[in-house]
Amino acid sequence: MLNGKRILLIVSGGIAAYKSLELVRRLRGRGASVRCVLTGAGARFVTPLSLQALSEDRVYSDMFSLTDESEMGHIQLSRDADLLVVAPATANLLARMAAGMADDLAATVLLATDKPVLAAPAMNVRMWTHAATAANVETLRKRGVAFVGPNEGAMACNEFGPGRMAEPDEIVAAIETMLVPRQRPLAGKRAVVTSGPTREAIDPVRYISNHSSGKQGHAIAAALAKLGADVTLVSGPVALADPPGLRTVKVESAEEMLRASLAAGNVDIAVCAAAVADWKVVHPAAGKMKKKAGAPPPQIELAPNPDILATLSRPGPQRPALVVGFAAETENLVANAIEKRQRKGCDWIVANDVSPSTGTFGGERNTVHLISASGVEDWPTLAKEDVALRLAARIALHFSGPPKAEAAE
Ligand code: PMT
Repeated sequence: MLNGKRILLIVSGGIAAYKSLELVRRLRGRGASVRCVLTGAGARFVTPLSLQALSEDRVYSDMFSLTDESEMGHIQLSRDADLLVVAPATANLLARMAAGMADDLAATVLLATDKPVLAAPAMNVRMWTHAATAANVETLRKRGVAFVGPNEGAMACNEFGPGRMAEPDEIVAAIETMLVPRQRPLAGKRAVVTSGPTREAIDPVRYISNHSSGKQGHAIAAALAKLGADVTLVSGPVALADPPGLRTVKVESAEEMLRASLAAGNVDIAVCAAAVADWKVVHPAAGKMKKKAGAPPPQIELAPNPDILATLSRPGPQRPALVVGFAAETENLVANAIEKRQRKGCDWIVANDVSPSTGTFGGERNTVHLISASGVEDWPTLAKEDVALRLAARIALHFSGPPKAEAAE
Protein backbone atom coordinates (compact mmCIF):
# COMPACT_ATOMS: atom_id res chain seq x y z
CA MET A 1 0.00 0.00 0.00
CA LEU A 2 1.05 3.57 -0.58
CA ASN A 3 -0.94 5.26 2.21
CA GLY A 4 0.14 8.85 2.69
CA LYS A 5 2.72 8.77 -0.14
CA ARG A 6 2.77 11.79 -2.46
CA ILE A 7 3.49 11.17 -6.12
CA LEU A 8 4.22 13.90 -8.64
CA LEU A 9 3.26 12.36 -11.99
CA ILE A 10 4.75 13.98 -15.08
CA VAL A 11 2.82 13.10 -18.23
CA SER A 12 4.63 13.87 -21.47
CA GLY A 13 3.43 13.57 -25.05
CA GLY A 14 3.07 9.98 -26.22
CA ILE A 15 0.18 7.75 -27.18
CA ALA A 16 0.83 5.80 -23.94
CA ALA A 17 -0.39 8.84 -21.98
CA TYR A 18 -3.83 7.21 -21.90
CA LYS A 19 -2.38 4.58 -19.56
CA SER A 20 -1.34 7.35 -17.16
CA LEU A 21 -5.00 7.99 -16.41
CA GLU A 22 -5.31 4.41 -15.23
CA LEU A 23 -2.04 4.81 -13.33
CA VAL A 24 -3.53 7.74 -11.38
CA ARG A 25 -6.55 5.59 -10.48
CA ARG A 26 -4.40 2.67 -9.34
CA LEU A 27 -2.14 4.89 -7.24
CA ARG A 28 -5.07 6.59 -5.57
CA GLY A 29 -6.68 3.21 -4.98
CA ARG A 30 -3.54 2.23 -3.06
CA GLY A 31 -3.75 5.29 -0.84
CA ALA A 32 -1.30 7.66 -2.57
CA SER A 33 -2.06 11.26 -3.41
CA VAL A 34 -1.19 12.18 -6.98
CA ARG A 35 -0.43 15.62 -8.37
CA CYS A 36 0.09 15.91 -12.13
CA VAL A 37 2.33 17.95 -14.38
CA LEU A 38 1.19 17.78 -18.00
CA THR A 39 3.50 18.87 -20.82
CA GLY A 40 2.19 20.75 -23.86
CA ALA A 41 2.61 17.63 -26.00
CA GLY A 42 1.04 15.48 -23.27
CA ALA A 43 -2.06 17.69 -23.40
CA ARG A 44 -2.54 16.58 -27.01
CA PHE A 45 -3.12 13.02 -25.80
CA VAL A 46 -4.97 13.48 -22.47
CA THR A 47 -6.82 16.47 -21.14
CA PRO A 48 -5.97 18.36 -17.96
CA LEU A 49 -9.59 17.86 -16.96
CA SER A 50 -9.29 14.04 -16.98
CA LEU A 51 -6.13 14.14 -14.87
CA GLN A 52 -7.67 16.71 -12.54
CA ALA A 53 -10.84 14.66 -12.08
CA LEU A 54 -8.92 11.45 -11.38
CA SER A 55 -6.28 13.01 -9.12
CA GLU A 56 -8.75 15.38 -7.43
CA ASP A 57 -6.04 18.01 -7.52
CA ARG A 58 -5.14 20.75 -9.91
CA VAL A 59 -2.95 19.98 -12.90
CA TYR A 60 0.20 22.04 -13.52
CA SER A 61 1.33 22.82 -17.07
CA ASP A 62 2.61 26.34 -17.37
CA MET A 63 5.95 27.45 -16.00
CA PHE A 64 5.00 31.11 -16.23
CA SER A 65 1.53 30.93 -14.69
CA LEU A 66 1.25 33.61 -12.03
CA THR A 67 -1.60 31.74 -10.36
CA ASP A 68 0.37 28.49 -10.22
CA GLU A 69 3.48 30.23 -8.94
CA SER A 70 1.59 32.07 -6.22
CA GLU A 71 -0.16 28.85 -5.19
CA MET A 72 2.84 26.54 -5.48
CA GLY A 73 6.20 27.65 -6.92
CA HIS A 74 7.80 25.17 -9.30
CA ILE A 75 10.66 24.50 -6.89
CA GLN A 76 8.21 23.60 -4.15
CA LEU A 77 6.23 21.50 -6.64
CA SER A 78 9.39 19.52 -7.36
CA ARG A 79 10.06 18.82 -3.70
CA ASP A 80 6.60 18.49 -2.25
CA ALA A 81 6.43 14.82 -3.21
CA ASP A 82 7.99 11.55 -2.10
CA LEU A 83 8.66 10.45 -5.67
CA LEU A 84 8.56 11.92 -9.18
CA VAL A 85 7.20 9.53 -11.79
CA VAL A 86 7.59 10.29 -15.51
CA ALA A 87 5.00 8.26 -17.43
CA PRO A 88 5.17 8.25 -20.33
CA ALA A 89 8.80 9.35 -20.57
CA THR A 90 9.27 10.23 -24.24
CA ALA A 91 12.62 10.22 -26.04
CA ASN A 92 12.44 13.99 -26.09
CA LEU A 93 11.89 14.38 -22.35
CA LEU A 94 14.61 11.81 -21.53
CA ALA A 95 17.01 13.76 -23.76
CA ARG A 96 16.11 17.02 -22.03
CA MET A 97 16.51 15.40 -18.61
CA ALA A 98 19.93 14.00 -19.59
CA ALA A 99 21.01 17.41 -20.90
CA GLY A 100 19.81 19.16 -17.73
CA MET A 101 17.46 21.45 -19.62
CA ALA A 102 14.75 23.54 -17.99
CA ASP A 103 12.73 24.62 -20.99
CA ASP A 104 9.29 23.73 -19.69
CA LEU A 105 7.67 23.03 -16.34
CA ALA A 106 8.24 19.23 -16.52
CA ALA A 107 11.98 19.55 -17.28
CA THR A 108 12.41 22.32 -14.69
CA VAL A 109 10.73 20.31 -11.95
CA LEU A 110 12.90 17.29 -12.81
CA LEU A 111 16.04 19.42 -12.69
CA ALA A 112 15.09 21.14 -9.43
CA THR A 113 14.00 18.09 -7.48
CA ASP A 114 15.85 16.48 -4.61
CA LYS A 115 13.51 13.49 -4.64
CA PRO A 116 13.93 10.08 -6.37
CA VAL A 117 12.74 9.84 -9.97
CA LEU A 118 11.19 6.85 -11.75
CA ALA A 119 10.82 6.94 -15.55
CA ALA A 120 8.55 4.72 -17.66
CA PRO A 121 9.84 5.18 -21.22
CA ALA A 122 7.45 4.92 -24.17
CA MET A 123 8.42 5.51 -27.76
CA ASN A 124 8.85 3.96 -31.18
CA VAL A 125 11.21 0.94 -31.16
CA ARG A 126 13.81 2.66 -33.36
CA MET A 127 13.80 5.71 -31.13
CA TRP A 128 14.31 3.47 -28.06
CA THR A 129 17.17 1.53 -29.67
CA HIS A 130 18.82 4.66 -31.13
CA ALA A 131 22.31 5.26 -29.76
CA ALA A 132 21.32 8.75 -28.60
CA THR A 133 18.46 7.44 -26.44
CA ALA A 134 20.63 4.59 -25.12
CA ALA A 135 23.29 7.13 -24.08
CA ASN A 136 20.68 9.38 -22.42
CA VAL A 137 19.22 6.45 -20.48
CA GLU A 138 22.71 5.36 -19.40
CA THR A 139 23.47 8.91 -18.20
CA LEU A 140 20.22 9.10 -16.26
CA ARG A 141 20.72 5.66 -14.71
CA LYS A 142 24.17 6.73 -13.53
CA ARG A 143 22.57 9.77 -11.90
CA GLY A 144 20.20 7.49 -10.01
CA VAL A 145 17.04 7.70 -12.13
CA ALA A 146 15.17 4.37 -11.90
CA PHE A 147 13.46 2.86 -14.94
CA VAL A 148 10.50 0.56 -15.38
CA GLY A 149 10.08 -0.93 -18.87
CA PRO A 150 9.74 -0.36 -21.71
CA ASN A 151 8.09 -3.63 -22.67
CA GLU A 152 8.24 -5.39 -25.97
CA GLY A 153 5.18 -5.79 -28.18
CA ALA A 154 3.10 -4.40 -31.02
CA MET A 155 3.17 -0.62 -31.11
CA ALA A 156 0.68 2.04 -32.19
CA CYS A 157 3.02 2.85 -35.11
CA ASN A 158 2.56 -0.71 -36.47
CA GLU A 159 6.09 -1.77 -35.53
CA PHE A 160 7.08 -4.46 -33.07
CA GLY A 161 9.77 -4.41 -30.40
CA PRO A 162 10.75 -2.73 -27.13
CA GLY A 163 9.15 0.69 -26.65
CA ARG A 164 5.70 0.07 -25.13
CA MET A 165 5.22 1.78 -21.79
CA ALA A 166 5.10 -0.59 -18.81
CA GLU A 167 1.57 -1.41 -17.69
CA PRO A 168 0.08 0.65 -14.80
CA ASP A 169 0.38 -2.33 -12.42
CA GLU A 170 4.07 -2.73 -13.25
CA ILE A 171 4.63 0.96 -12.60
CA VAL A 172 2.78 0.75 -9.29
CA ALA A 173 4.94 -2.25 -8.31
CA ALA A 174 8.11 -0.31 -9.16
CA ILE A 175 6.84 2.66 -7.11
CA GLU A 176 6.10 0.41 -4.15
CA THR A 177 9.57 -1.12 -4.40
CA MET A 178 11.03 2.38 -4.20
CA LEU A 179 8.78 3.84 -1.50
CA VAL A 180 7.57 1.16 0.85
CA PRO A 181 10.07 0.01 3.42
CA ARG A 182 9.87 -3.73 3.31
CA GLN A 183 11.21 -6.50 5.34
CA ARG A 184 14.57 -6.93 3.74
CA PRO A 185 15.92 -10.14 5.27
CA LEU A 186 18.54 -10.48 2.52
CA ALA A 187 19.97 -6.96 3.01
CA GLY A 188 23.76 -7.24 3.00
CA LYS A 189 23.74 -10.46 0.95
CA ARG A 190 25.05 -10.57 -2.60
CA ALA A 191 23.54 -12.82 -5.25
CA VAL A 192 24.15 -13.83 -8.84
CA VAL A 193 21.31 -15.28 -10.92
CA THR A 194 21.65 -16.74 -14.42
CA SER A 195 18.61 -16.57 -16.67
CA GLY A 196 17.42 -17.21 -20.22
CA PRO A 197 19.00 -19.23 -22.99
CA THR A 198 22.51 -19.04 -24.40
CA ARG A 199 23.33 -18.82 -28.10
CA GLU A 200 26.22 -20.77 -29.57
CA ALA A 201 27.27 -19.36 -32.94
CA ILE A 202 27.43 -21.65 -35.98
CA ASP A 203 28.29 -18.77 -38.28
CA PRO A 204 27.56 -15.02 -38.08
CA VAL A 205 23.84 -15.57 -38.78
CA ARG A 206 23.03 -18.98 -37.26
CA TYR A 207 23.19 -20.34 -33.75
CA ILE A 208 22.20 -23.21 -31.43
CA SER A 209 19.81 -22.16 -28.66
CA ASN A 210 16.62 -23.18 -26.86
CA HIS A 211 13.16 -21.88 -25.94
CA SER A 212 13.97 -20.38 -22.52
CA SER A 213 12.28 -16.98 -22.15
CA GLY A 214 14.10 -15.90 -19.00
CA LYS A 215 10.78 -15.43 -17.17
CA GLN A 216 11.68 -17.79 -14.32
CA GLY A 217 15.26 -16.55 -13.84
CA HIS A 218 14.33 -12.87 -14.09
CA ALA A 219 11.52 -13.35 -11.56
CA ILE A 220 13.97 -14.98 -9.13
CA ALA A 221 16.45 -12.11 -9.52
CA ALA A 222 13.64 -9.59 -8.87
CA ALA A 223 12.37 -11.55 -5.85
CA LEU A 224 15.84 -11.70 -4.27
CA ALA A 225 16.27 -7.96 -4.85
CA LYS A 226 12.88 -7.32 -3.27
CA LEU A 227 14.11 -9.04 -0.13
CA GLY A 228 17.11 -6.72 -0.05
CA ALA A 229 19.83 -8.75 -1.79
CA ASP A 230 22.34 -6.97 -4.00
CA VAL A 231 21.68 -8.91 -7.21
CA THR A 232 23.59 -9.35 -10.46
CA LEU A 233 21.39 -10.92 -13.13
CA VAL A 234 23.38 -12.56 -15.93
CA SER A 235 20.96 -12.88 -18.80
CA GLY A 236 21.13 -14.60 -22.15
CA PRO A 237 19.20 -13.04 -25.05
CA VAL A 238 15.58 -12.53 -23.90
CA ALA A 239 12.72 -10.22 -24.83
CA LEU A 240 12.13 -9.09 -21.23
CA ALA A 241 12.79 -5.66 -19.73
CA ASP A 242 15.62 -5.50 -17.20
CA PRO A 243 14.06 -5.86 -13.73
CA PRO A 244 14.35 -2.63 -11.70
CA GLY A 245 16.57 -2.44 -8.63
CA LEU A 246 19.34 -4.77 -9.74
CA ARG A 247 22.28 -5.04 -12.15
CA THR A 248 21.68 -6.88 -15.43
CA VAL A 249 24.61 -8.15 -17.49
CA LYS A 250 23.67 -9.29 -20.99
CA VAL A 251 25.54 -12.17 -22.60
CA GLU A 252 25.14 -14.51 -25.56
CA SER A 253 27.21 -17.68 -25.19
CA ALA A 254 27.75 -20.07 -22.26
CA GLU A 255 31.37 -18.98 -22.02
CA GLU A 256 30.31 -15.34 -21.73
CA MET A 257 27.73 -16.34 -19.12
CA LEU A 258 30.38 -18.14 -17.07
CA ARG A 259 32.76 -15.15 -17.28
CA ALA A 260 30.01 -12.70 -16.25
CA SER A 261 28.90 -14.96 -13.38
CA LEU A 262 32.45 -15.18 -12.03
CA ALA A 263 32.94 -11.43 -12.56
CA ALA A 264 30.02 -10.80 -10.19
CA GLY A 265 32.69 -11.49 -7.54
CA ASN A 266 32.21 -13.00 -4.11
CA VAL A 267 28.52 -13.70 -3.67
CA ASP A 268 26.56 -15.38 -0.89
CA ILE A 269 23.90 -16.84 -3.18
CA ALA A 270 24.05 -18.23 -6.73
CA VAL A 271 20.89 -19.33 -8.54
CA CYS A 272 21.45 -20.94 -11.95
CA ALA A 273 18.10 -20.81 -13.75
CA ALA A 274 19.56 -20.30 -17.23
CA ALA A 275 19.09 -22.92 -19.91
CA VAL A 276 22.73 -23.13 -20.89
CA ALA A 277 23.61 -24.91 -24.13
CA ASP A 278 25.51 -28.05 -23.22
CA TRP A 279 27.56 -27.89 -26.41
CA LYS A 280 29.23 -25.20 -28.44
CA VAL A 281 30.41 -25.25 -32.04
CA VAL A 282 34.15 -25.96 -32.18
CA HIS A 283 34.87 -23.86 -35.26
CA PRO A 284 32.13 -21.28 -35.92
CA ALA A 285 32.47 -20.09 -39.54
CA ALA A 286 33.75 -16.54 -40.00
CA GLY A 287 31.36 -15.92 -42.91
CA LYS A 288 27.82 -17.17 -43.62
CA MET A 289 27.99 -20.87 -44.54
CA LYS A 290 26.87 -21.29 -48.15
CA LYS A 291 24.50 -23.97 -49.39
CA LYS A 292 26.12 -25.55 -52.45
CA ALA A 293 24.04 -27.49 -54.97
CA GLY A 294 24.64 -31.23 -54.65
CA ALA A 295 27.01 -30.87 -51.68
CA PRO A 296 26.18 -32.76 -48.45
CA PRO A 297 25.05 -30.70 -45.45
CA PRO A 298 27.98 -29.35 -43.42
CA GLN A 299 29.25 -31.39 -40.47
CA ILE A 300 29.17 -29.28 -37.34
CA GLU A 301 31.64 -30.42 -34.72
CA LEU A 302 30.49 -29.82 -31.15
CA ALA A 303 32.44 -29.61 -27.90
CA PRO A 304 31.13 -29.44 -24.32
CA ASN A 305 30.51 -26.01 -22.86
CA PRO A 306 31.82 -25.14 -19.40
CA ASP A 307 29.30 -26.01 -16.68
CA ILE A 308 28.52 -22.79 -14.84
CA LEU A 309 26.59 -24.42 -12.00
CA ALA A 310 29.32 -27.01 -11.37
CA THR A 311 32.01 -24.32 -11.53
CA LEU A 312 30.23 -22.09 -9.00
CA SER A 313 29.61 -25.12 -6.74
CA ARG A 314 33.28 -26.08 -6.58
CA PRO A 315 34.49 -26.06 -2.94
CA GLY A 316 36.83 -23.21 -2.01
CA PRO A 317 36.90 -19.79 -0.42
CA GLN A 318 35.07 -18.26 -3.43
CA ARG A 319 32.13 -20.68 -3.22
CA PRO A 320 28.81 -18.95 -2.48
CA ALA A 321 27.31 -20.09 0.83
CA LEU A 322 24.22 -21.30 -1.05
CA VAL A 323 24.23 -22.55 -4.64
CA VAL A 324 20.86 -23.38 -6.20
CA GLY A 325 20.61 -25.11 -9.56
CA PHE A 326 17.66 -26.00 -11.73
CA ALA A 327 17.02 -29.35 -13.37
CA ALA A 328 15.05 -29.32 -16.59
CA GLU A 329 13.88 -32.86 -17.22
CA THR A 330 11.41 -34.61 -19.48
CA GLU A 331 11.46 -37.98 -17.66
CA ASN A 332 12.23 -39.36 -14.18
CA LEU A 333 12.09 -35.76 -13.01
CA VAL A 334 12.86 -36.11 -9.30
CA ALA A 335 15.30 -39.04 -9.58
CA ASN A 336 17.30 -37.30 -12.30
CA ALA A 337 17.30 -34.05 -10.36
CA ILE A 338 18.56 -35.73 -7.18
CA GLU A 339 21.40 -37.27 -9.21
CA LYS A 340 22.10 -33.88 -10.87
CA ARG A 341 22.32 -32.10 -7.51
CA GLN A 342 24.99 -34.53 -6.35
CA ARG A 343 26.91 -34.57 -9.65
CA LYS A 344 27.05 -30.78 -9.94
CA GLY A 345 27.75 -30.21 -6.23
CA CYS A 346 25.05 -27.57 -5.61
CA ASP A 347 23.14 -27.28 -2.33
CA TRP A 348 19.60 -27.20 -3.67
CA ILE A 349 18.15 -28.05 -7.03
CA VAL A 350 14.75 -26.95 -8.34
CA ALA A 351 13.36 -29.68 -10.57
CA ASN A 352 10.89 -28.77 -13.30
CA ASP A 353 9.29 -30.88 -16.00
CA VAL A 354 10.00 -29.26 -19.37
CA SER A 355 8.05 -31.72 -21.55
CA PRO A 356 6.36 -29.61 -24.27
CA SER A 357 2.89 -30.42 -22.84
CA THR A 358 3.76 -28.61 -19.57
CA GLY A 359 4.50 -25.27 -21.28
CA THR A 360 7.26 -24.63 -18.73
CA PHE A 361 9.69 -23.28 -21.32
CA GLY A 362 8.43 -19.81 -22.21
CA GLY A 363 5.15 -20.18 -20.27
CA GLU A 364 3.81 -18.26 -17.29
CA ARG A 365 3.51 -21.07 -14.74
CA ASN A 366 5.78 -23.72 -13.31
CA THR A 367 5.42 -26.84 -11.19
CA VAL A 368 8.60 -27.46 -9.25
CA HIS A 369 10.11 -29.73 -6.62
CA LEU A 370 12.72 -28.25 -4.28
CA ILE A 371 15.41 -30.81 -3.57
CA SER A 372 18.02 -30.42 -0.83
CA ALA A 373 20.07 -32.80 1.30
CA SER A 374 17.10 -33.02 3.64
CA GLY A 375 14.59 -34.22 1.07
CA VAL A 376 12.14 -33.32 -1.65
CA GLU A 377 9.39 -30.70 -1.36
CA ASP A 378 6.61 -30.80 -3.96
CA TRP A 379 5.28 -27.32 -4.68
CA PRO A 380 1.90 -26.68 -6.30
CA THR A 381 1.66 -25.23 -9.80
CA LEU A 382 2.32 -21.50 -9.42
CA ALA A 383 2.90 -18.42 -11.55
CA LYS A 384 6.65 -18.12 -12.17
CA GLU A 385 6.68 -14.93 -10.05
CA ASP A 386 5.21 -16.90 -7.14
CA VAL A 387 7.74 -19.73 -7.56
CA ALA A 388 10.39 -16.98 -7.41
CA LEU A 389 8.93 -15.32 -4.30
CA ARG A 390 8.64 -18.65 -2.53
CA LEU A 391 12.20 -19.63 -3.45
CA ALA A 392 13.54 -16.23 -2.34
CA ALA A 393 11.67 -16.57 0.96
CA ARG A 394 13.20 -20.03 1.46
CA ILE A 395 16.63 -18.63 0.74
CA ALA A 396 16.04 -15.84 3.29
CA LEU A 397 14.94 -18.43 5.84
CA HIS A 398 18.09 -20.46 5.15
CA PHE A 399 20.25 -17.45 6.01
CA SER A 400 18.20 -16.27 8.98
CA GLY A 401 18.97 -19.44 10.81
CA PRO A 402 16.69 -21.80 12.54
CA PRO A 403 15.05 -24.54 10.48
CA LYS A 404 16.47 -27.67 11.98
CA ALA A 405 16.02 -29.71 8.83
CA GLU A 406 18.23 -27.27 6.97
CA ALA A 407 20.82 -27.02 9.71
CA ALA A 408 21.37 -30.73 9.13
CA GLU A 409 22.44 -30.13 5.54
O1 PMT B 1 13.22 -19.23 -19.05
P1 PMT B 1 11.81 -19.79 -18.90
O2 PMT B 1 11.07 -19.83 -20.22
O3 PMT B 1 11.06 -19.09 -17.80
O4 PMT B 1 11.95 -21.31 -18.47
C1 PMT B 1 12.52 -21.62 -17.24
C2 PMT B 1 13.47 -22.84 -17.34
C3 PMT B 1 12.68 -24.06 -17.73
C4 PMT B 1 14.56 -22.56 -18.36
C5 PMT B 1 14.11 -22.97 -15.90
O5 PMT B 1 13.11 -23.16 -14.96
C6 PMT B 1 15.11 -24.14 -15.86
O6 PMT B 1 14.76 -25.28 -15.69
N1 PMT B 1 16.41 -23.81 -16.02
C7 PMT B 1 17.50 -24.79 -16.15
C8 PMT B 1 17.54 -25.29 -17.56
C9 PMT B 1 18.68 -26.28 -17.77
O7 PMT B 1 19.60 -25.99 -18.50
O8 PMT B 1 18.59 -27.36 -17.07
P2 PMT B 1 19.65 -28.61 -17.10
O9 PMT B 1 18.99 -29.69 -16.36
O10 PMT B 1 20.09 -28.85 -18.52
O11 PMT B 1 20.89 -28.04 -16.30
C10 PMT B 1 21.01 -28.23 -14.89
C11 PMT B 1 21.62 -26.99 -14.25
O12 PMT B 1 22.92 -26.78 -14.74
C12 PMT B 1 20.85 -25.71 -14.48
O13 PMT B 1 20.89 -24.97 -13.26
C13 PMT B 1 21.65 -25.01 -15.55
O14 PMT B 1 21.56 -23.57 -15.42
C14 PMT B 1 23.06 -25.48 -15.22
N2 PMT B 1 23.98 -25.54 -16.37
C15 PMT B 1 23.76 -26.42 -17.40
C16 PMT B 1 24.68 -26.52 -18.41
C17 PMT B 1 25.84 -25.69 -18.38
N3 PMT B 1 26.73 -25.75 -19.34
N4 PMT B 1 26.02 -24.83 -17.36
C18 PMT B 1 25.12 -24.75 -16.36
O15 PMT B 1 25.28 -23.97 -15.44
